[in-house]
Amino acid sequence: MELLLHLGTFESYTGDAVVVPVFSDGELTPAGEGANRLSGGALARLRGKAFRGTIGEVLPLPLEGAGAPLALVVGLGTRADFGYAQAKQAAALAARRAQQMHLARIGLPPFGAPDGLGPQQAMEAALLGAASGAYRFDRYQKEKGEGPTAISLICGRPDGEAAARAAHSAAAAIAAGVETTRDLINMPPNEKLPEKLVAAVEAMARAEGLDCRTIGHAELEKMGAGGILAVGRGSAHPPAIVVLRHDGGKGPWHGFLGKGMTFDSGGIDLKPAPGMLWMKSDMSGAGTVVGAMRAIHRLNLPGRFIGVLSIAENMTGADAYRPSDVLKMLSGTTVEVSNTDAEGRLVLADGLELLRREKVADITDLATLTGAIVVALGAHRAGLFSNDDAHAQTLISAGEQAAERYWRMPLDPEHKEALKSPTADIKSTGSREGGASTAAEFLHHFAGDTPWVHLDIAGTAFNGESGPLGHGATGFGVETLVRFAQGG
Ligand code: BES
Ligand code: MN
Ligand code: ZN
Repeated sequence: MELLLHLGTFESYTGDAVVVPVFSDGELTPAGEGANRLSGGALARLRGKAFRGTIGEVLPLPLEGAGAPLALVVGLGTRADFGYAQAKQAAALAARRAQQMHLARIGLPPFGAPDGLGPQQAMEAALLGAASGAYRFDRYQKEKGEGPTAISLICGRPDGEAAARAAHSAAAAIAAGVETTRDLINMPPNEKLPEKLVAAVEAMARAEGLDCRTIGHAELEKMGAGGILAVGRGSAHPPAIVVLRHDGGKGPWHGFLGKGMTFDSGGIDLKPAPGMLWMKSDMSGAGTVVGAMRAIHRLNLPGRFIGVLSIAENMTGADAYRPSDVLKMLSGTTVEVSNTDAEGRLVLADGLELLRREKVADITDLATLTGAIVVALGAHRAGLFSNDDAHAQTLISAGEQAAERYWRMPLDPEHKEALKSPTADIKSTGSREGGASTAAEFLHHFAGDTPWVHLDIAGTAFNGESGPLGHGATGFGVETLVRFAQGG
């Protein structure tokens, strides 16, 4: 899918449809006025009746005398509630409808920019929303979808041209990152075995000119990365850690870390069948870091960012690690394995130690870590845990800018208590109660006093069921990391 820029009026845009944003209250937007005129007044006649302009409404309206034969009139909700999230969501739903209608080329006029949302932000929201709504994953299907292949930002006002150019190039970079992330997560687990996922990341890095180094199995052994090695041992496909670097030349290094379980069977503590379904998405954290690093590099941001991917497959092979095994982690801490299905924290612990050795200023890890966070927060917010209020607030604000929502969860001394082991320094799980927090507390042990945020994205990364934006990977978290990196 291509994101393009059309510098001209919306009447002059030639494509299959123009998206026309309309609020549920007040005057029509300029594009709304245009669509009303070119539809012979149909929009004004339907407004407030068949079309009320609430978020989620999409009304196809034939146009006469415009470059595009069709308007997709899309509701923005009230002016008072309008913001980045609403613009993004409305554009996503319009693009989704365009996909269902097999429209190949769609145009997006400015999505109104009332108080609080600058024109560039409004345009980025519209482009990113539309790109996300138009996404599809059909590489394993003979019959390909026919949804939008080209999405154009339409800017007819000469004084808006600079903002439009900036929005277009930023959105194109971020959308490319999001697409990479969603493709990797949607890929079937037999097609992204650890060595294949590593190769895919290396190929992306090479194509983008992003610095990339892979720590293979032998080197992990030499280093003594006992967490990731144990988790990978039940698989015929050995684990690896990939390190991506973007050096924008300014300031301290910031660390990103992603859980990259290419498939999580649970190991010897095997998951029941329903719980195992969609465990191909258990590399979403790593996939998110890959997409974010790609976008950050394309944006040529001035900061320094290092992305660590802990990649392994949790299987039940003859040499699989067992409950009660004691592991010596890269940091030297010994861990008693209390459940082989709590594998994410083990691979992340070694990644955290690597980042500490890099002396990063702060760490943000992303992981589909616990079922408990899904129960607590559902699919619309990810859990955020942190040992540092300032870093936590920075990530929450970055999330707000990206229209990705987080909810700060507790890390208490009692959670540390739950990880006491009779045999080793700590054990890997506590009881079921507060499971997302004990998992985070386990990571905290390895993050130490480095300012650190842990994002548990188990509920937000992947839709098993078909929601309004379809089945599969959401790309949640990529834009948060980019907004963080932009330092806003
Ligand atoms: N990958 C799972 C967590 C998960 C669950 C992700 C549902 C997405 C949807 C993780 O490795 C896991 O199995 N966690 C266990 C931990 C438990 C054994 C302490 C869980 O949450 O049940
Ligand atoms: Mn697991
Ligand atoms: Zn897992």
